Parts: sequence; structure tokens; C-alpha cells
Amino acid sequence: MNIAIFASGGGSNAAAILKHFEGHDCIRVALMVTNNPNAGALDVASNYGIETLVVNREMLYRSQEVLDLLEDRQIAFIALAGFLWRIPNDMLNKYPSRIVNIHPSLLPKYGGKGMYGHHVHNAVKASGDRFSGLTIHYVSEEYDAGQIIIQLKCPVYPSDSAEDIAARVLRFEHATYPVAIQDLVERLMLRE
Ligand code: GAR
Repeated sequence: MNIAIFASGGGSNAAAILKHFEGHDCIRVALMVTNNPNAGALDVASNYGIETLVVNREMLYRSQEVLDLLEDRQIAFIALAGFLWRIPNDMLNKYPSRIVNIHPSLLPKYGGKGMYGHHVHNAVKASGDRFSGLTIHYVSEEYDAGQIIIQLKCPVYPSDSAEDIAARVLRFEHATYPVAIQDLVERLMLRE
């Protein structure tokens, strides 16, 4: 079964996913999509020889180009890994319960439009919360509001900076997201 990763940034989650599925019997990362021509995720993809696509708003929201490519490459599942643009409705309709996202907080806390990366960790630090974590959820029309699949809670220590919190959460993301994707995709394969 072919999966695609959508990423906008550094691509460390994308790297963890690619490493996890390297040499896997029946699940293959076949495409990396980004909206950012400077995304580290593009370098990660090229290290693994994965096809890449850089999209602009016109392509994603007002043409069939991306959907056509996903179909042509027989993509059955999409994992967002730090992808910051909304997923268009026609893609959501074509991939029901087949598009997931990882968010670096315990949703519904610190989610929604504009809440990504350091904004989340700054807000956690400012709140004085003793815990943060990660949430893996299905993607829906609204930012960070789809059904939650997995949450992992980790501690926030009083001495932590926002950067410390980010680093801790990211470490757990790398350990959790690839396994979660494998579990979800294997379940889809059993149903087909
Ligand atoms: C990750 O922490 C991910 O949870 C977060 O962006 C980071 C991407 O890092 N996603 C969001 O904030 C989505 N709202 P990466 O590019 O190194 O994988």
C-alpha cells in the first residue's frame, strides 16, 4: 500500500517515517508533497529517492493536479507531518479516515489556526501546564479538530524553556507517529 507524506518544514517526522518504512514488505512511502520549496523534507525525500511535489495554492485548491497525481501513484493513505496548509475538501472526501495529522500538544488544548510549532510550545510554557504531549488525529475541514486517534502525554518541568518542551515532544513524535501510521495502514489493508 502506498502512502504520501505532506510536510512544510524541517521534515524530522518525515525522516522518522521514511526510516521506519524503509524495506517494509508492503507499505511504501511513494510521494512527498510540500508547499515550501525550501522545506528540509525535500532533502529528506531525496536522500531516500522518494518522488516529491511542490504545490502552490492554485494547484492545491483550484485544480485537480494533486488529486490526479495521488491517484496515479495509487496513494491510499496520507500522513501530514508539519504540513501547515488546510487540506481541500475534495481531498478529504476522496480519502475518508485516510488522512492523519500529528499535532504537538494535547488537543483540544493549543490547537486551531495559527497554532503550530513554536507557537504551541510558547503557549504551553506561558500557561504553566505541567504536561504537554502529542496528538495524532484524523484530518477534517477544521484545523486540529478531527477525531483523536492517539495521545501521548509527557511532562513539562518548571525549568523547561519552550525549546526544551518542543524537543521533548518532538522526540516522542518520532517514536510514535511511524508506528501509529503502520497500525492504521495495516488495519486498512485487512479491510480491503
Ligand atoms: C512537529 O512538531 C509537528 O507536530 C508540528 O510541526 C512540527 C514539524 O516538525 N505540527 C504542527 O504544529 C501542526 N499544527 P518536523 O518538520 O521536524 O517534522
